[in-house]
Amino acid sequence: MEIKQVHPLFVGEVGGIDLSRLLDAATAKDVVAAMDRYAVLVFHDQAIDDPQQIAFSQLFGPIETTRHLINPNHKLRLDKHIADISNLDDQNRIMAPDARRRMSGLANRLWHSDSSYKPISATYSILSAKVLPSWGGETEFADTRAAYDALSPQLKAQVDGLVALHSIHTSRAKVGFTDFADEERAALPPVPQSLVRVHPGSGRKALFLASHAGSILDMPLPEGMMLLHDLIEHATQRQFVYTHRWRVGDLVMWDNRCTLHRGRPYDMAEVRDLHRTTVSDMANDKRGVARASAA
Ligand SMILES: [Fe+2]
Repeated sequence: MEIKQVHPLFVGEVGGIDLSRLLDAATAKDVVAAMDRYAVLVFHDQAIDDPQQIAFSQLFGPIETTRHLINPNHKLRLDKHIADISNLDDQNRIMAPDARRRMSGLANRLWHSDSSYKPISATYSILSAKVLPSWGGETEFADTRAAYDALSPQLKAQVDGLVALHSIHTSRAKVGFTDFADEERAALPPVPQSLVRVHPGSGRKALFLASHAGSILDMPLPEGMMLLHDLIEHATQRQFVYTHRWRVGDLVMWDNRCTLHRGRPYDMAEVRDLHRTTVSDMANDKRGVARASAA
């Protein structure tokens, strides 16, 4: 495994590894060490199918099932362990402009951390590119450890110890999408997340932000919302951002605990099909807290 850093702060491009074969324990450990250092790893030319991607992902912990399982009317195109990052419906047709999943998915163009709104949030997301449009559709990543380091001493003192509430309904409402089934609202109440977290693998502090965050506990709503706006704007300045321009066969793995990301626009009349697996952060299990605040 060879790694070349492709951004001044983070992101490694990895060669000499075939992810379709199950890695041995020593190599999986090397991947974790590289993730702790680079936060985003890019693997090119990986011919990997869904079961192989699932097996690779499970080397790093239990993996999520898609939140769309909560909605009994939602028909899945892919295995329940795969988040369907495409503009295709369950019949493999390009979704209608007003399709529910498409509308909701537009909010993925806002800066976020995957699954920060879930009672068990995520360590890694692993995304592989199957079909790409002729232009656009890049994914951008921001380094929230470097962003924390660059805060003024006053802002560091202000944000340390604060807790934000994250909800999938908050990020969707930001693009005007509010059409959630009652089961979905009930199943995903807001989750409290510390605004500053120590990244366990590196010992560095990181801002934990996302478009899912809508308020800060014990702070007036406008003040909390403004602070969240300011912090996302700070963390996503160009010097902290890497833009990934996809090639078919790319697999990109990122650490949601110390990065933000967003999708970029593309021609929705063309197919864009990427498959994501997501590793659960069992060390950040908020099930008890979420139940208590929902009660
Ligand atoms: Fe995402």
